[in-house]
Amino acid sequence: MQVATTYENAMARKYPEQVSLAIAKDARGKHNPISLGWVMNTSIEPPMLAISIGLTRYSLEVLRHAREFVLSFVSSTMAEDALFHGTRSGRELDKLAQCGTKTQPATVIDSVLLADAVANFECKLESELVTGDHVIFVGRVVAAHMNEDPSVRRLYSLGNDQLGGVVPG
Ligand SMILES: Cc1cc2nc3c(=O)[nH]c(=O)nc-3n(C[C@H](O)[C@H](O)[C@H](O)COP(=O)(O)O)c2cc1C
Repeated sequence: MQVATTYENAMARKYPEQVSLAIAKDARGKHNPISLGWVMNTSIEPPMLAISIGLTRYSLEVLRHAREFVLSFVSSTMAEDALFHGTRSGRELDKLAQCGTKTQPATVIDSVLLADAVANFECKLESELVTGDHVIFVGRVVAAHMNEDPSVRRLYSLGNDQLGGVVPG
């Protein structure tokens, strides 16, 4: 049986939520990462992925400038990286250099992959849609990469500002 509650209370029941990072190159040539929970697949053929970026984020202007990005499925060992990139802004900071997140060059677009992630997708920006206080960016996947170690698992947001791995079952 369902009982009426607030939007916030009901939405708090969604966890665990997968954590991703989007990386795009800014006008000064710096690769800027942003931690993301709001990510979805939007097309199989051609493969497309969508990310939702808050109006206040530095990444908003970076994505509009770069018109391409890497979407990275963060691994369970990368909680500190996800917290760092999700609580500091790249406006005044080189987040990748400061945090020491391991990268390797992307192969098709001008960006970087996260070396320890579960998987990385290189995306060309197709379209954007303003929705309230966020903007949805849709990217067409032009290259995909996965960790050579199949035992590497994804990182989740568990609610109450906790990040961690999830054991299926
Ligand atoms: C686990 C986690 C998930 C997040 N999900 C989103 C999201 O989906 N969209 C968003 O705009 N910000 C999200 N954030 C907040 C941004 O990552 C954060 O504001 C970041 O500092 C913005 O960096 P920037 O100013 O360099 O773009 C999330 C943060 C964390 C820690």
